[in-house]
Amino acid sequence: MGMKTIVLQPEELDQAAAFLQAGACVAFPTETVYGLGANALDAQAVASIFAAKGRPQDNPLIVHCCSEAQVLDLVGEVHPTARELMQKFWPGPLTLVLPRTAKIPPVVSAGLDTVAVRIPSHPVALRLIELSGLPLAAPSANLSGRPSPTTAAHVLADLDGRIRAIVDGGETGWGVESTVVDCTALPFRLLRPGGVTLEELQTVTPVEVDPGVYGQLQPGSPPRSPGMKYRHYSPNAKVVLVLGDRPEERILAEGQKHAAQGRRVGVMAPTEHCPRYSEFATLPMGSVSNLQEISANLYRLLREADALELDVLFVESLPETGLGMAIMNRLRRAAGDNIIWAEN
Ligand code: TXA
Ligand code: MG
Repeated sequence: MGMKTIVLQPEELDQAAAFLQAGACVAFPTETVYGLGANALDAQAVASIFAAKGRPQDNPLIVHCCSEAQVLDLVGEVHPTARELMQKFWPGPLTLVLPRTAKIPPVVSAGLDTVAVRIPSHPVALRLIELSGLPLAAPSANLSGRPSPTTAAHVLADLDGRIRAIVDGGETGWGVESTVVDCTALPFRLLRPGGVTLEELQTVTPVEVDPGVYGQLQPGSPPRSPGMKYRHYSPNAKVVLVLGDRPEERILAEGQKHAAQGRRVGVMAPTEHCPRYSEFATLPMGSVSNLQEISANLYRLLREADALELDVLFVESLPETGLGMAIMNRLRRAAGDNIIWAEN
């Protein structure tokens, strides 16, 4: 730390690969969000990822590979149905939790006997993995607890001076992180919704949804995906998620109460609904009929809430089908316990 972070262009991947081979951390774009990569086979390099992010040691990382052969070399026995998922959805925003072999140092998986792996589809990510010749352990390239970065500027805002380099590949595509599926037992279990939807997974095999996806952790038993127990994706403002079909009256009433106490109030809602809230700062999410647009905007808007120095941010909920499941999962996590129901 206290190092100078070098900004590289996608034409300079040789240099990024050399840093990775030397055991340094390099941020790079994927089709979901920016990742902070290091050699997954080098325990010390991986430890420096945790240090740079301030990430709790018990939250395991995803290993990024560029081919199925590279994946199969690192994991134990793979269920044939997991092979089907690989064939159907890789490269792409799907992470599979598989048995770990001794090739992967325990620090990568926070001591679990499993390892999460994916093949990203972003050409810069794929090329970087190829050039380095290494599987890359990479969490999202944000400070722990902050919204995931969808631009190089977001990464630098959090990690400038804490990492060796970043490859600036412009804005990422999906905007939310990959879908995480535990494939170590049948039925497979959805641990984190993402770009590959539950409906798409179900076309291949029945998939059970872990209760943690809806913010319900089983008291007394450890979560299947350790990342789920942390409040996450949070701007400095208090995020209040408003569930129910008719949020408008409730948000206006609550917002006015806060404003009367001198707080700066913002509302994040589908673009079509924003005119309702013109007395507050509005953060238009994108069209209600285009969940892809909303997921691409989500983390940028949570960061904008900070730039606007909001004290409280009300967020309209979305339908939890398709990509809406991933968006709502992130909003629940940003809100923590601040979830209210707007009844008719
Ligand atoms: O799209 C993504 O997945 C991005 C890009 C950079 O690839 N990465 C990402 O990593 O979101 P991260 O570290 O922010 O989230 C990894 C999630 C966490 O919720 C973690 O608990 C879970 O995956 N995870 C990792 N290894 C696991 C394992 N062995 N068992 C269960 N959950 C695991
Ligand atoms: Mg993350």
